[in-house]
Amino acid sequence: MNNSHSNTILLTGATGYIGRRVKMKLLEDADVRLKLLVRHPGSLTRTDDRRIEVIKGSTFDPAALAEAMRGVHTAYYLIHSLGSGDFAQKDRISATNFRDASIAAGVKKIIYLGGLGLKEDQTSEHLLSRIETGEILSAKPEAIEVIWFRAGVIIGSGSASFEIIRNLIQKLPVMITPKWVRTLAQPIGVDDVIRYLDAARQDSITGTHTVDIGAEVLCYETMMRQCAEAMGLRRIILPVPFLTIGLSSYWLNVFTPVPFTVARSLIEGLSSEVTVQNDAAQRLFPEIRPLSFKKSVQTALREAEENQVLSRWSDRGGDVWETDHLHSIADAVFVDRKTLPLGNLRAETVFNSVCSIGGEHGWFRYDWLWEIRGFFDKLAGGVGLNRGRRSQTELRIGDSLDFWKVVDVVPNKRVLLFAQMIVPGKAWLEFRIENGQLIQSAYFIPKGVWGRLYWYMLVPLHSFVFKDMIRSVLDRS
Ligand SMILES: NC(=O)c1ccc[n+]([C@@H]2O[C@H](COP(=O)([O-])OP(=O)(O)OC[C@H]3O[C@@H](n4cnc5c(N)ncnc54)[C@H](OP(=O)(O)O)[C@@H]3O)[C@@H](O)[C@H]2O)c1
Repeated sequence: MNNSHSNTILLTGATGYIGRRVKMKLLEDADVRLKLLVRHPGSLTRTDDRRIEVIKGSTFDPAALAEAMRGVHTAYYLIHSLGSGDFAQKDRISATNFRDASIAAGVKKIIYLGGLGLKEDQTSEHLLSRIETGEILSAKPEAIEVIWFRAGVIIGSGSASFEIIRNLIQKLPVMITPKWVRTLAQPIGVDDVIRYLDAARQDSITGTHTVDIGAEVLCYETMMRQCAEAMGLRRIILPVPFLTIGLSSYWLNVFTPVPFTVARSLIEGLSSEVTVQNDAAQRLFPEIRPLSFKKSVQTALREAEENQVLSRWSDRGGDVWETDHLHSIADAVFVDRKTLPLGNLRAETVFNSVCSIGGEHGWFRYDWLWEIRGFFDKLAGGVGLNRGRRSQTELRIGDSLDFWKVVDVVPNKRVLLFAQMIVPGKAWLEFRIENGQLIQSAYFIPKGVWGRLYWYMLVPLHSFVFKDMIRSVLDRS
């Protein structure tokens, strides 16, 4: 028998773009008890909120799933496997496991967010997989209720679609675009998405429903023009017939922060119309009136300017956590270590200086060298330097920081960054504050002969880049 209380909620994807925001929204309700199923608890924002219980594991781990579901009334499914090999098959297994574990534990309701779009029109494997996930979750309506939301482009500070549009507009006064920029879509602001996801847990919402959500119908060209207006810029947009999916994805990869895989899945989604197909949102949630596209853009721009970005598209850890970073750096084949005394400086001040590295502040010295490295990374289809950072002052585990991922933060003691740029091996950059010293270490585990050659080729550059970096961290403190 399930002893669930309607306020006990399981949230998955709490380290992802949507999940982080849903978590904050749910916690606004003082009665909520929240269970989080996460693969790497370290990447959750630190909190001493006693209403939160963290279960380490994934949807592929039956024991963790059973523990996560115990006593739960409503379970949020806000995850996907895009970015890992054979993601569609993984997503099928993940959704089946989740639905069956929910039913076994007597969970009352699953709330899922997938993508807008019809199965028969789909050319995007990612969107097809999102549809399949919804079908699997809602295949047993007699055993469990499912509210399946379907959203198209989500506009919010840090969302992939918004970052792409913003970067293209900022960087390119004249834009040559594929002809699909005239395809119709129905974007929605992230705050409205979160409002729907939160409202769906009310007891008055019963049964299994597919709920399409979106604000006004617009084509991508109009979105870009309205975004340019909101940014106070004039832009020329020229759609041409010859840009293929591959070329366009490559273009986005080079000019915007998103890597090739994300760019490709978004571009694939552009070629077919994605608009709301049912009136369930108005019937079930009449109190929610989505903001216009332009208003959502204005909110996103303001949040980015005020350093108030709650989550970013690049937050999720993915395969970063397949490596045990602390053990791996101990086994590094090459280490470049520099040490300087803190002098009169407090550890806290130096730590804050370390935490402000990268993003808009740059890498203190030789920024042009980092830019060149980032540019070549982008050309090779990597993440490049222009992902920037979520906040200019704070670092949390799981944050992306230009082409690094933050994999450890110990306040006033240590920051460890793992390289997500394309390198023939594994690389880390560590700052440690210990015994009155700042210790900066670059670690590298090469892959094959090319990995070793790569390290030796960079030794002359490292000698002045790293030497100056540690000096600059102290100078800025
Ligand atoms: N973001 C958008 O613009 C958008 C638009 C329309 C629809 N949606 C839908 O919204 C949902 C959430 O998307 P998102 O953008 O928030 O994704 P996201 O930022 O990529 O985050 C994915 C989350 O899933 C977790 N995860 C992946 N596989 C897992 C597993 N097997 N077990 C447990 N956790 C797992 C990841 O954890 P790690 O940190 O450990 O990797 C991460 O927290 C998806 O269904 C997506 O289709 C999103």
